[in-house]
Amino acid sequence: MAARRAHGSWRPSSGARRYGIRLRRFAGPATYRDQIGHLRIAHLTDQHVGRITPFEVQIAAAEMTNAENPDVVFLTGDFVCHSQLYLDQLTEVMRAFKGPVIAVLGNHDHWSGADEVRRALERGGVEVLQNRHTVITLRDQKLQVVGLDDAYTGHANRNEAIKGLRKDLPAIGLSHIAEEADGLWRHGIPLVLSGHTHGGQVTVARLHELALGMIGGHKYVHGLYGSRDHADRRDQHQPEGAVYVGAGIGAAVLPFRIGERGKREVTMFELGCEPGDFVEHHAEQEPLKGRKPTQATIERRAAAVVRKRLRREKNQA
Ligand SMILES: [Fe+2]
Repeated sequence: MAARRAHGSWRPSSGARRYGIRLRRFAGPATYRDQIGHLRIAHLTDQHVGRITPFEVQIAAAEMTNAENPDVVFLTGDFVCHSQLYLDQLTEVMRAFKGPVIAVLGNHDHWSGADEVRRALERGGVEVLQNRHTVITLRDQKLQVVGLDDAYTGHANRNEAIKGLRKDLPAIGLSHIAEEADGLWRHGIPLVLSGHTHGGQVTVARLHELALGMIGGHKYVHGLYGSRDHADRRDQHQPEGAVYVGAGIGAAVLPFRIGERGKREVTMFELGCEPGDFVEHHAEQEPLKGRKPTQATIERRAAAVVRKRLRREKNQA
């Protein structure tokens, strides 16, 4: 099947312009060329529906996405901020997307009540993947979507998620935390979409890399990392896949986004196109050094989810 169009004819709507939402476009990994005619994937992350991010921003982002006519929309977590006060709004935002929507959860969703957030998403017509995969058929083309639950709070289970994954069908991964991509690549998932970092929100003077890389321990801060090229994989030192870290739409604490890389972002992936088929926002970047969380950090993050649930239950009693 021939590609519909590599370049979108999208012009920013007044909403998208007003709220500084960027549209970025990338080709998929070369592997897909043999497996997929053409699919257009939309990716948004970290919507954080709530008090900090105006509802109009959420709707403008959905409208911007719809204008691209994607075959499917993938959302990679942090749908809320710190409470369940805006779940009805969240459902409304989800209903604003046209076409199928598939999602994974983030740390804020677990902090605020994962079951309740998941149900609000489902009421909005979203399929939520928590350590499982699904096969979707889009314009007669099959695509496996592997969704990890949130790794930051200790809920990711890669082995569960890939159980029964077929080698003869293309696969794409969703994970709130980008560093999980390394493990997914080894199972034949050449592209992983993620979020969590908000692109640093303040990206002038590479402050985002300083804060998220050196202090936060992230290898992947914003944009594209790894490799989308078949040939690279013959070199054992090259990564076996690519990961994209979206800058996100909303915020949970500080509303500002300073610097081009930290702007709100909707990203389109043209699966079946290869790097070089059209002009992209940037090429694959070198990862930062990164630092794995210590056991104490892992336990502290898991305990925070329990503490917040107990506090919520106490307040509801
Ligand atoms: Fe977030």
